[in-house]
Amino acid sequence: MTDFELRRIEEHEINAFASCQASAFGGRYTPDKLESLAEDLRLDRSLAVFDGGDLVATASSYAVLMTLPGLVQCEVTAVTDVSVAPTHRRRGLLTSMMRRQLDDLRSSNEAVAVLFASEGAIYGRYGYGPATFGARYVVDKRRARLLTPFAMPCGPGSGGGPGSVRLVELAQAAEAFPAVYGAYVPTRVGELDRPHGEWAELLGNPNGAGEDARHRFFACYEQAGRIDGYAVYRVAAMDPSDHWRRAVFVEELCSLSDESYMSLWRYLLGIDLTEELRTRSRPVDEPLRYLLEDQRHLRTASLGDRTWVRLVDVPCALGQRRYEEEGAIVIEVEDAFCPWNDGRFRLSVDGDGAGTVERVDAAPDLALPVEALGALYLGGVPFVAMAEVGRIAEHTEGAARLADRMFATRRPPFCTTNF
Ligand SMILES: CC(C)(COP(=O)(O)OP(=O)(O)OC[C@H]1O[C@@H](n2cnc3c(N)ncnc32)[C@H](O)[C@@H]1OP(=O)(O)O)[C@@H](O)C(=O)NCCC(=O)NCCS
Repeated sequence: MTDFELRRIEEHEINAFASCQASAFGGRYTPDKLESLAEDLRLDRSLAVFDGGDLVATASSYAVLMTLPGLVQCEVTAVTDVSVAPTHRRRGLLTSMMRRQLDDLRSSNEAVAVLFASEGAIYGRYGYGPATFGARYVVDKRRARLLTPFAMPCGPGSGGGPGSVRLVELAQAAEAFPAVYGAYVPTRVGELDRPHGEWAELLGNPNGAGEDARHRFFACYEQAGRIDGYAVYRVAAMDPSDHWRRAVFVEELCSLSDESYMSLWRYLLGIDLTEELRTRSRPVDEPLRYLLEDQRHLRTASLGDRTWVRLVDVPCALGQRRYEEEGAIVIEVEDAFCPWNDGRFRLSVDGDGAGTVERVDAAPDLALPVEALGALYLGGVPFVAMAEVGRIAEHTEGAARLADRMFATRRPPFCTTNF
């Protein structure tokens, strides 16, 4: 790495930054993608490696609100745009960018970093662990029948008379959907606010180059004049060689009430001339399964990690989230990449679920590497299972079970937005 220069980029270098990224992912960016990258990129948080005049590696980050356990919204750092040109791989460029980035985050008191990993073997060495998970579902529409609900929904937002699903145009979707999503984010652990560019990508450009983007439909559920949920979907061939075998591809579905949730799925499953409904990554506890008369007609096509979490400042990060059960536990953390986190911390949780964290010399109840703590942080990974396979050392009997009760979340954490 000694022959290279690592620094922030300037405005005139944005195109080179984007080209490096596109080539690293084996593609070319469309003008739309370039525009949204330029709009979202924070130059003061960018990093690039230069080999002479050539920009050969990229990374950036932005501050974003994340919903932490206890449904508290906290600013975290979203790490994105990570790439190394195919000509410069395995020469330590990524490691040098991660080093600089984590040092910078520490200096600016940013306690938690999150990212999406293109491959599972890359980020553990830098202290990130997979913390949220998602599944892609396929419903056989020709055979799936929906149950009549036993009870009318009584969740938040229910009542006020029957609502209805209607289709809206892109402009109205662009205006109304972000507010629905914004109201949903604080209700689920792991969710993030969404930057503008991500909205542009989800909603698509009717004049854009991509076939997918031009063929999106926007359905919303409206009740008493209020939009309570939406679905963005496409109807497209399942098999490019057979135009008539078509599926409903659900890009995103977001709802603020149980009625809206059920009505939107009913609508999507009722679309004619389609054999299947296919979703993008959805929560692993998707309630849609229980709407079906025969759950076997819903198949989990894939299950995978979504956000990876890195605790940049362990005591601060542990103090920011809330806990489900009162108790105290001493955790010993090993952090080879960020040794300022090495040590023993007592986490004491009061009856209201607030945690205080102090450095101690006391014997630890549990010991673990920082990437394991990152995975456990949002409550979506069990301590007991990690202890069973030796990812955690349990020094006090029952400590992993106690930690599970303290760190638990009511529903598995999820992150809808890819970044
Ligand atoms: C993944 C990528 C950023 C790695 O960059 P790099 O500069 O080659 O990584 P480094 O040379 O700093 O590698 C550091 C270590 O990680 C390992 N590593 C890097 N990429 C890896 C991968 N994809 N799978 C497994 N190990 C990997 C290296 O072998 C090295 O291990 P070592 O420390 O034991 O020697 C680069 O290959 C790339 O741009 N890939 C395509 C785009 C992409 O996937 N970006 C990440 C988006 S989340």
